[in-house]
Formats: sequence, structure tokens, C-alpha cells
Amino acid sequence: MIAKTAAAGGNVLDPRILAFTSSLAQDLSLVREDLVGSLAHVTMLGKTGLIPADVASALRGGLLALATELKEGTLALPDEEDVHMAIEGVLAARLGPPAALLHTARSRNDQVATVLRLHVREASRLALTALSSLALYLVDRAEAERDLVLPAYTHRQRAQPVSLAYFWLNHATALTRDLDTFSAAYAQANVLPLGVGAIAGTSLAIDRQLVCDRLHFASLSLNGMDTVGDRDFELDYAYAAARLLVHTSRLAADLVDFASQEFGFVRLDGDLACGSSMMPQKRNPDVFELIRGKSGAAIGDLVALLTTVKGLPSGYNRDLQEDRGAILATEARVNAVLAALDVALPRVHFDAARCGRAVDEDAMQATDLAEALVSKGMPFRVAYQAVGSLVRLCQEEKIPLAKVTLEKARSVDVAFDEEVLVAADPRASVGRKVSAGSTGPASIDAQITELRKRLQSAKTAAARMPNLDALLASFNASWT
Ligand code: ARG
Repeated sequence: MIAKTAAAGGNVLDPRILAFTSSLAQDLSLVREDLVGSLAHVTMLGKTGLIPADVASALRGGLLALATELKEGTLALPDEEDVHMAIEGVLAARLGPPAALLHTARSRNDQVATVLRLHVREASRLALTALSSLALYLVDRAEAERDLVLPAYTHRQRAQPVSLAYFWLNHATALTRDLDTFSAAYAQANVLPLGVGAIAGTSLAIDRQLVCDRLHFASLSLNGMDTVGDRDFELDYAYAAARLLVHTSRLAADLVDFASQEFGFVRLDGDLACGSSMMPQKRNPDVFELIRGKSGAAIGDLVALLTTVKGLPSGYNRDLQEDRGAILATEARVNAVLAALDVALPRVHFDAARCGRAVDEDAMQATDLAEALVSKGMPFRVAYQAVGSLVRLCQEEKIPLAKVTLEKARSVDVAFDEEVLVAADPRASVGRKVSAGSTGPASIDAQITELRKRLQSAKTAAARMPNLDALLASFNASWT
């Protein structure tokens, strides 16, 4: 208990209070980040002459040894309030007096903010990488399945025929928007707090820019009082995560429905569908139900973080430590859902015949028929009434709209002719759509091209972002 004994003259915390106040268990996910932050700090202290070069070198050696132990799974940390104190404690035990210089011009307030920013920056980078791959997969599916036609739904009632490509691209588009939110979270995290100390800065001549460059942060935080209490980057990450998981919950909801006997559009491979403990016939879409379910806790974590920060007085407050659980759980959820979708989606197969039958047996092409009348000069509302009457007649006589004869159509309205009735073919409905953003083939081409462009550039941008392991390894390679 270095800080406690040094600052409070030998008193140690009551173990029950230590247990209550410690975040060490959760902080174990932040060891790499703490080592990277300390390595940059020590580099700066050595270069500015704030600590002797041999001490800087000994500290660096000690920190790198811990990094090796972490990698090999042999790192043991003492019972401390947090990972920062635990690492300093190990160094004190191993290196003796030089360890007392590590915390020069640093507070845990700027240290923990740095560690968390490194963590959220890395988590955002990984999410961007995984998410762009997933969205690209959906675009590939769209390209491969553009000829399959199925019903689209409004109010969960059959609405209009669309291509399966349109369905996949609808989800790919939402996920592509999530790349923007994760990029925003990345940019928010990509600011260096270290150097503002506890709240007011330091009287020692530190070089914050050196640390910033060494850690590949984009800029220095502007105001220390703001810096030590700022967790906006976590809020942004949690929002990006919650919204992504809301999007995946909607994809999952579609697939749960489509896999039901009532829809029958989708068949799940045997190694994806789960069984029932009692009903031998069941092939349940548990994976998609759980993907849908996980969005609830993600929203909860976002609200928990917002609530923790709300009303806190300026500067650092220990309440902020409550961020740890929420941010780590959210990150785990994002990773788990993206990984599950990677495995699950290739095991989802659409049944072209079932989807086609659903399209044929209804009157989902009614709007096309009305638009064909509009093309002949009839006002839309009049055409809408005429087709409405025809659809009702078909429903009474229990014939699908596709099977309607010219004679029957003309008995409703003489404006119906052979040319107009071409639009009664539901399978041709998709091909008739010409507007931008529609399910029509030219629009699908445009959507595929645009999404590929956005996703490719997000992927390239993510590949250029600093990688935490590489950053850690860079301290092995050089002293600069
Ligand atoms: N243990 C805290 C955390 O990990 C950091 C403590 C910062 N400062 C303090 N004086 N207790 O979030």
C-alpha cells in the first residue's frame, strides 16, 4: 500500500474498506494500458532530466519485465486499490529506491484517465475493424442474393416485394452508420490527459507533447480540471456500442421471425440451431434471441455511465471508478455479438421457394398496379381507389392479385388494360423500382458500390490506428 503508507504515515486501510474501494479485479483488463502509459511517462522523465537516465532505464526494464510476465500469464499483482498502485508496488519491491521516482509529476487522476483512454481507443479500433468486416459480409450476401424476392413488412404486415439484397443492405447501412459513431468515440478517446496531475498541473518542467507523440495521441487535453473528471469518451463508446447492439438486435429479430414456421423463410444449419430439453422437434434460433437480448444490458450500461457522471462536482471524484464495470462489460458484449454474427450468418439460408410463394399469394404489388395507372395519367388517389376495389374483389373470390383477368379488372375500372396489368406480376415488382434508395436493380448496384467504398475506407482507417500491442512492443525496440 504505497500511497496509503507514504501519505498517511503508516496506517493501512481496513481490509474491508480496501475490498470495497478496490477496482483491482476489473483493472486486470487494463494492465497493458498502464504499462504503456508508464513507459511513455518514464521516457519523458528521463529525456527531460527530471529523473536520472539510469533510473529511467531501470524503471523501463522493470515495466517491460512486467509486460513479459503479463504475456506469459505469470504476472502476480499485490492486493492494492487499483492496478496503478499494484504495479508501482511490484516495482518498489523489485527495484527499490528507483521506483520512488516513477510517480514524479503524475497523479493517479491523470494516470487512470490515460489508461482508460488507451483502452477505449483500442476497443474502438477493434470494433471498427470487426464491424467493417461484418458489414462487408452483409454486402457480399446482398450481391450474391439479389435475385431472391421476399416480402418487406410495415407494421409487420406484408407490404411490398423486395430483393433479399435490399434486406441485407438495410442492415449493412445501419452498421455502416455505426462506424461513424465508433470513429467519433475513437477521436474523443484519442487525447492525452497525462501531465495535468491531480487537477492543477505540475511545477516540474514536464514535456507533455513528448508523451503525446510517444503514445500516438492526436492532441493534449486542454484544461486539467476538465481532464481529470472527463469520461465523455466512455459515454461516446458506450453509446456507439449500445446503438450497434440495438441494430444487431433488429437484425436478430428479423431472423428469429424468418426462422419460425409461420414465416419459414430461413433455415438454420444444425450446428447453429439449439434444441429443446423436452420437445424433440425444435430447432430454436437461440443465437439470434441472445443477440437481441444483449442490447438491453448495453443500454443499461450507457445509462449507468451517464448517471454516474451526472451532477459530479468539477475535478476528480472517486465515483468515476464505477465506470470500469460498465465499460468492460459493454466491450465484452460488443465483441461477443460481432463474433457470434460472424459464425452465425453464414449458417442462415433463405428458402427462395418459400419467400417466392409468400410474394405470389398476396397483393403486395398493388402499389405497382396503381402506379401503372398513374403512368397512364390517372391521379394517384383515384388509381389507389380503383386498385383497392380490385384487391377487395380478389380477396372475396380468394384469388391472388397476380391471377386477376383483364375482364375482372375492367369490371372494376375500365382504365385497366393489358399494359397496366403487366404490373400485376409480383415477381416483376422489384425490377420496376427506379428511384434512388429503392429495391430496384440500379439502386441496389449503387448501394453496394457506396457501402463498399465507405466500408473499405473505414477498414483502411482502422488499420492505420495505433495498436496497443505494437505500442507496447515499441518500447522494447527503442528509447525514443
Ligand atoms: N482507483 C481509481 C480508479 O482506478 C483511481 C484513483 C484516483 N485517485 C485517487 N486519489 N483515489 O479509477
